[in-house]
Amino acid sequence: MSARRLLLLGPPGAGKGTQSERLVKSLAIPQVSTGDMLRAAVKSGTPVGRQAQGFMERGELVPDAVVIGVAEERLSQPDARSGFILDGFPRTAAQAEALDQMLVKLGVTLERCVALQVEEDELVKRLLKRAEIEGRSDDNEETIRTRMRVYREQTQPLIDYYRARGVLREIDGLGTVEAVGERVQGALAS
Ligand code: AP5
Repeated sequence: MSARRLLLLGPPGAGKGTQSERLVKSLAIPQVSTGDMLRAAVKSGTPVGRQAQGFMERGELVPDAVVIGVAEERLSQPDARSGFILDGFPRTAAQAEALDQMLVKLGVTLERCVALQVEEDELVKRLLKRAEIEGRSDDNEETIRTRMRVYREQTQPLIDYYRARGVLREIDGLGTVEAVGERVQGALAS
């Protein structure tokens, strides 16, 4: 049986959100995207949104304490009991450690971390194309560059963290959405 407690890891534009949506359909488990939740909070002007907005616009990480609270609240909802797809969380060592503690409390374990690998030129191309279509405020060249640097410095080290636990599968994120989706399915089954 395919794993049901999953983490998709990868740089901005790697396809975490796109592949999560496919898995929501095929596995019938919820996507837990801190980026989507924070954008919704900014839009509705909640206290979390007000704390997050400036960091997001600059392409920097929202402080750990804020994001950990958002993720914990979401993972404790009833629909996450049968599984979940983490998209964009954790992104720092402190967040990964906090996730470990949340999972202990929930009595479950993370079964797979799928790391999507895509070279930077392609990532920038994808995000600039999305900027034309969707106009996300952090999809501009300067902010994209900051997001890439932040990923390299703070999030990429988590690949080793999950490799050491034996749950990591690294896949090529280049190709059609369907082709990458098949590789993701393969990584969950292996
Ligand atoms: P978040 O929303 O998580 O953004 P991100 O990591 O920058 O991810 P993206 O949504 O840009 O990329 P993705 O990998 O999901 O790719 P997607 O499928 O969308 O975070 C935004 C901000 O929120 C952060 O900068 C930070 O400030 C804050 N934040 C969020 N979580 C946080 C945390 N844990 N801690 C602290 N701060 C946090 O695809 C991208 C584009 O490419 C789309 O247009 C898509 O259609 C296209 N595409 C996808 N797959 C393919 C393919 N195979 N071929 C061609 N195009 C493709």
